[in-house]
Amino acid sequence: MAFEMHNMDMKQGDTLKIKGKVTDDGDRFAVNLGSCADHIALHFNPRFDDVTIVCNSMCNGSWESEQRDSNFPFSKGVEVKIHITFKGDNFEIKLPNDHVIEFPNRLSLDKITYLAVHGNFKMISFKCS
Ligand code: GAL
Repeated sequence: MAFEMHNMDMKQGDTLKIKGKVTDDGDRFAVNLGSCADHIALHFNPRFDDVTIVCNSMCNGSWESEQRDSNFPFSKGVEVKIHITFKGDNFEIKLPNDHVIEFPNRLSLDKITYLAVHGNFKMISFKCS
């Protein structure tokens, strides 16, 4: 576990801006947004081993169906910014190359209070506003 917080206050219209460095030690990282570790509205999971970005949700500890995107603008050792906007009905994730991935708010959360970052990503800063 690299980073976890339980008292975030992300509302519809807010954008979470994460800056960090993709580290060399590992092949995957994930940014999870939800209400707790078992209830994740957005699991954003770049996989170097698959050269794919997997997005999914988790409801009461069970993964739902994956959405995959083959746009993969990540390299190990490189500092990146990822912007995630909570649009209410969905999330818009802007990648470092400006490509945007949309993922539906399947859990119908009206507020995101939980943020976790796992894997080969070292968080430098984040801001939610
Ligand atoms: C699993 C993986 C989890 C998560 C999930 C997303 O295979 O072990 O970490 O990424 O896929 O669907």
